[in-house]
Amino acid sequence: MKVRAVYPGSFDPVTNGHIYIAERAAAVFDEVIVSVLVNSNKQSTFTVSERCEMAQEALKHVKNITVDNFDGLLIDYARREKANVIIRGLRAMSDFEYEFQMALMNRKLAPEIETFFIVTDPKYSYVSSSSVREIFSFGGSVKDVVPDFVFRKLQEHFKK
Ligand code: PNS
Repeated sequence: MKVRAVYPGSFDPVTNGHIYIAERAAAVFDEVIVSVLVNSNKQSTFTVSERCEMAQEALKHVKNITVDNFDGLLIDYARREKANVIIRGLRAMSDFEYEFQMALMNRKLAPEIETFFIVTDPKYSYVSSSSVREIFSFGGSVKDVVPDFVFRKLQEHFKK
């Protein structure tokens, strides 16, 4: 049986940390769908099509990864896509509490779907989309933590 995994997130924008997690997931599972959340309580900086385009570009070198988007409950989406695994990345213990609660809630809603955590490379442990946006918007360098085309998108967006 082929195992299809969903790696969900806001990806606003995709960072090298996300790419690392997606690549490692793709080395373990048969298919990985990197899926961008459409509607969130969080206001996003990039549109869903920009976020998908950046993720697509970042992961086009990995054959068993596709990029998609979803709206509504993650478990409904996973069931529709016949995915029985959810991937989430862990950077630090501080991520764990929120991730643990989300995994338990998703298990309560969909016991057949398993959440797998992949630990990041320590060099990405401090990288988040929100810090990338904030550092860039105040003129700091984020060149080492996002791909070049994401860097250019940030320049376009913040007109730097
Ligand atoms: O990159 P993020 O913002 O940390 O990703 C969070 C995400 C998209 C995984 C989470 O917010 C989510 O799954 N949202 C969809 C709605 C849902 O299913 N909520 C219940 C989670 S317990």
